[in-house]
Amino acid sequence: MKFFVDSADIEQIRELADTGLIDGVTTNPSLVAKSGRKFTDVIKEICSVVDGPVSAEVTSLETDGMIEEGRKLAKLASNVAVKVPLTWDGLKACRALSQGGVPVNVTLCFSANQALLAAKAGAAFISPFIGRLDDIGLDGMEVIREIRVIYDNYDNLNTEILAASIRNVNHVKDAAMAGADIATVPPKVLQDLTRHHLTDKGLDAFLADWKKTGQSIL
Ligand code: E4P
Repeated sequence: MKFFVDSADIEQIRELADTGLIDGVTTNPSLVAKSGRKFTDVIKEICSVVDGPVSAEVTSLETDGMIEEGRKLAKLASNVAVKVPLTWDGLKACRALSQGGVPVNVTLCFSANQALLAAKAGAAFISPFIGRLDDIGLDGMEVIREIRVIYDNYDNLNTEILAASIRNVNHVKDAAMAGADIATVPPKVLQDLTRHHLTDKGLDAFLADWKKTGQSIL
């Protein structure tokens, strides 16, 4: 499974990229607003730090505007993936950009049928939003499972499932078990993945016993 960082904070991204565990980055207009920086500068900087795909989202609502914005964003760096919303206009823009060689991430996906349409429109990535489905009392992970089954039923559907709107470590584990290709994970949740109280407790005990030996490895 690939890990993307769900953030537009360059310092957090740099720190996580240093671990070698990061395969890409996703941003959205809300994350860019939170960064307080100029959109195009942020995307260029992230692309220089991370080799994998960096999603940058269009804000136009019409196909032509999305295509124009998408082409501009794709020119910022060779690893930009253009994000378009799952609307009719977004699907048409997805088709045009994909045919022009630009990888497209179709975002704001909340159902398996939407994911089927995105794959048919040539999307490189589909982003089902797990957390936002859970927020309204639905089972976000079930949508990932359904999409996995559908994509696996057809050899010509090669879109990668990018589990998005991840809120906790269980979402990461469950998305991996459901067969998502990628999880885009907020920095805090990525860091939480390392944590287990028995790891901390075990380490304390090992170090206490080691101290008693009076030895040193170096
Ligand atoms: C990433 O591509 C999505 O925009 C993001 O995961 C949405 O997360 P949220 O539902 O926590 O805002």
